[in-house]
Amino acid sequence: MSNKMWGGRFSTGPDAIMEEINASIGFDQRLYRQDIAGSIAHATMLAETGILTQTDRDAIVAGLTEVLAEIEAGTFTFSRALEDIHMNVESRLREKIGDAAGRLHTARSRNDQVATDFKLYVRDTIDTLVIQVTTLQLALVNRAEAEAETIMPGFTHLQSAQPVTFGHHLLAYVEMLGRDAGRLLDARKRLNESPLGSAALAGTPYPIDRDRTAEQLGFDRPTANSLDAVSDRDFILETLAAASICAMHLSRFAEEMVIWSSAQFGFVRLSDKFTTGSSIMPQKRNPDAAELVRAKIGRILGALTSLIVVMKGLPLAYSKDMQEDKEVAFDALDSLSLSLAAMTGMVSDMTANRERMRASASAGFSTATDIADWLVREVNIPFRDAHHITGQIVALAEQKDCGLEGLTIEDFKSVDSRIDSRIHKVVTVEASVAARQSYGGTAPANVLAQAARWKTILTGEAHEPRPLAKKKHGGHGDGGVE
Ligand code: ARG
Repeated sequence: MSNKMWGGRFSTGPDAIMEEINASIGFDQRLYRQDIAGSIAHATMLAETGILTQTDRDAIVAGLTEVLAEIEAGTFTFSRALEDIHMNVESRLREKIGDAAGRLHTARSRNDQVATDFKLYVRDTIDTLVIQVTTLQLALVNRAEAEAETIMPGFTHLQSAQPVTFGHHLLAYVEMLGRDAGRLLDARKRLNESPLGSAALAGTPYPIDRDRTAEQLGFDRPTANSLDAVSDRDFILETLAAASICAMHLSRFAEEMVIWSSAQFGFVRLSDKFTTGSSIMPQKRNPDAAELVRAKIGRILGALTSLIVVMKGLPLAYSKDMQEDKEVAFDALDSLSLSLAAMTGMVSDMTANRERMRASASAGFSTATDIADWLVREVNIPFRDAHHITGQIVALAEQKDCGLEGLTIEDFKSVDSRIDSRIHKVVTVEASVAARQSYGGTAPANVLAQAARWKTILTGEAHEPRPLAKKKHGGHGDGGVE
C-alpha cells in the first residue's frame, strides 16, 4: 500500500528507510580488523574452556582469517541488509565454513562485541596519535635548537611586550603537546579493560574465561560490571576531550603561523607545499594548511559535544543511540591526525626571517623593563621609582623618534644622573633575552638546555619530569640553566 508520507527519496517505502537509518556498515566497516581479532580471541577462549570444540574453533579462525584477507584485498562485498560489521563478517564466515559459524556467537552479544571493537580501535588510534604528537614535538625541538638565539618580539595582548627567542616560543608548544600526549595516554589507561563476555547486558551462564580474552586482546583486565561494560562510552568521550584540547593548541599555533607569514609580519615563510597562490593576485601565498588546522577544532570539539549529548539521559544498558558514537569519533580522530601531519610538515619546511624578527623585537621600546631592572640591581633604586624613571626615558626616546638603543649617554643622564654607560648594553634585545636565565626563561642557554631535555624524553631515554631543584646558594637569576 502506498503512503504519501514516504515520498521523495524514500519512495521505496518503510523497509528502505528502516535499513538506511538502522545500518551502520557504511561507517563501522573500518572496525573490521578489531572485530575479527575479537572473534578469534573469543573462539579461542571458548575452545579452551570446552564450550566449543577445537575443530570448530580452528574452522572459525581459518574462516575469519580468510574474511580478513578478503576485506584487506577489497574483494569483500559489504551488505547494508546485514546492518553492521559484526553481522557482515559472521554471515561471510557462515558462507565459508557453514554451521560452525553459528557457534561463534555463544556467550557474547553484539553489545559487548561492539564495545570491544570500538575500544580496540580507539586504543590503536591513540597509539598512532601519540606517535604523531611526538613527531611534531621533535620537529619543533629541532627548529628550537636552530633558533635558540633568534630574537623575536614576545607579545601580551598581541602588543610587543618583551623580546623572546624564537626557540623559546616554539618550545612552548612542545610543552603543550607533551601534556596532550599525556592526556591521550591517560585515556588509554582507563579504556584498557575488556568488555568481551559481558554479553547482552547481564553476563552469561557459560563458564567463560574473560581474563583469557582480555589477555589475548592486550587489555589489562576484564571490566567488572556487565551493565557498565556494554553501555560505557566515556572512553571515547575522554579521548575526544583530549583530542579537542590538542586541536585547540594546534589552532593557536596555526593562527600564529598565519600571522607570522603575513607580509606585515614576515617572520616566517611557509613552503610552497603548504600554501596556495591566488588566481587573481599574483603576490599572494595563502597559508591554507595553517588556516585549516586552525579550523579543525570546530569539528573535533563538535564530535565531543555531539556524543556527550547523545549519551546524556540514556538509561542502562545498551540503546541503539550509541551507534551514533562512531561517525563523529572517526571524523574527529581523522581530523586530528591530519592536523598533526600538516603541522609537522609546516614546521619542518618553514624558513624563519631572523633579521625581520630581530628588527621587530627592538621596536616598541621592548627593553624598557631591562632599564628598570638595571636601575634596581645596579643603582639600588626601588622598582616603583625605577619604573617611573624608565617611563621618562621612553618618553624622551619617543620625542627624539629613536629606539632605546639610539639614546646617547647624555640623554640617559638627563633623566637620571646615576645612569652610566653600561646602560647601552642593557637596552639591546640580545642582552635582554640573555639575562632571562631564570628557570623556564627565554635565554638562549635555557632554550638549548630545554631542547636537549626534550630530546632525551622524545627519543625514549627519559620519562621523568624535572624534580624540584636542591637549594643551591640562592640569589637572583640563579638556577636557570641546568
Ligand atoms: N551497530 C551497533 C552499534 O554500533 C552494534 C550493536 C547492536 N546491538 C544491538 N543490540 N542492536 O552500536
